[in-house]
Amino acid sequence: SDIPHTLTITRPDDWHLHLRDGSALQAVLGHSAAQFARAMIMPNLNPPVRTLDDASAYRERILAALPPGSDFQPLMTLYLTDHTTPEEIVRAQASGIVHGVGEAFLAGATTNSAYGVSDFERCHEVFAAMQEVGLPLLLHGEVTDPAVDVYDRERVFIDRHLAPMVARYPRLKVVLEHITTREAVEFVSAAPAQVAATITAHHLLYNRNALFTGGLRPHYYCLPVLKRELHRQALLQAATSGNPKFFLGTDSAPHAVLLKEHASGCAGCYTAHAALELYAEAFEAAGALDKLEGFASFYGPDFYSLPRNPGRVTLQRQSWTVPERYPFGQADLKPLRAGEALGWRMV
Ligand code: NCD
Ligand code: DOR
Repeated sequence: SDIPHTLTITRPDDWHLHLRDGSALQAVLGHSAAQFARAMIMPNLNPPVRTLDDASAYRERILAALPPGSDFQPLMTLYLTDHTTPEEIVRAQASGIVHGVGEAFLAGATTNSAYGVSDFERCHEVFAAMQEVGLPLLLHGEVTDPAVDVYDRERVFIDRHLAPMVARYPRLKVVLEHITTREAVEFVSAAPAQVAATITAHHLLYNRNALFTGGLRPHYYCLPVLKRELHRQALLQAATSGNPKFFLGTDSAPHAVLLKEHASGCAGCYTAHAALELYAEAFEAAGALDKLEGFASFYGPDFYSLPRNPGRVTLQRQSWTVPERYPFGQADLKPLRAGEALGWRMV
C-alpha cells in the first residue's frame, strides 16, 4: 500500500517547554532530550528566572541533569516582571544563552504567574530595548481580568494588548505562545513577519469536549484552556499550511498526579514522552504528514535566526501503549494518553 511506514525528518526543536527544577527536572528532561535538539525553556519556576544570573544557573542545572552523551541544548528565557530593566535585556542578549523574554504573563494568568507584570504600559523601556537588541517577546496571550469569560481571554488579549503592541513596536519579534483560537490564527497570519505563534500537540488533537467526556477529566486541563472544535480546526489548518509563522511548541507542563486530580487542579498537559508522535498523529489525520518537517524543524530556527539542526530523526508506524505513570521525584506524573495506544513511535 502507499501508507508510509516510516517518517524521517530533520531533528526538531521544541519552542515552548516547561522543565521545572530539582527532582522534577531530573525526571522529565530525558523525554525532551530524546526527541528534540533544542528547547526554549520557560522561566516560571518559583521564584521565576528573572535575571541573566538566574538563567545561567538554571541552564547549568539542566545541563547537569542531562542523560550521559546527550547534546540537547536548553535555550533560556527571562521572566518579565514589573522590575525587569532595559540593562538586563542588553546583558541577556549579549550573553548568547538567553533567547527570549517569556513567558510574559499578566499577573495571575497561570502557574507561578504571580510575579507577572501588572500592566504592559510599565514595560515600555524594556520592550524598546528588546526591539533594539532583537530579543523576542514570548507571550502567554490571555487577559486576567475576571470579568472576561475564560474562553474569551485569548481573543480579548489580542484586541487589548497584542494589536497595540505590534503597532507600537513594529520591529519587536513577538511569539504568541500556545495559541488556541481562530482569532489568534487570523491575527498572526495577517501580522508582519516578526510576529509568529507556537501550537501545542494537545490543542491540535483535542477540543474542549475532552475535558468533560464521561466526567471531569483533569489531565486535559491546561491554559489557555482547550476551545471548541472550530478553533481546533483553525489551528490544524495553520499548523499544516506550510506558513512559517506557525511552529512547534509543546507547552509540555508536568504536574504531580495528586495536584492534577485535585479540587483545584493545576493547569498543564504532559506531552514530552511522545511529543513528535502526537504531532504526527494530528498531521496525518489532516492528510499533511509532509508538512510536519517545516513546522517541527525549520520555521522555529528560521524565526529565531538560529541554524536548522544537522541530524535527522525517524518515526516508525508501530502501535504502543503509553505508560499509566512516569516517576516524578517523590510523586507520579500522568502523561497525555496514559494507558492508551499511539500509532507512531520514534526510533
Ligand atoms: C489588563 C488590563 O488592565 O488591561 N490587566 C490585567 O488583567 N492585569 C486586564 C485586561 O486586559 O483584561
Ligand atoms: O497549562 C499550562 N501549564 N499553561 C501554562 O501557561 C503554564 C503551564 C505550567 O507551567 O504548568
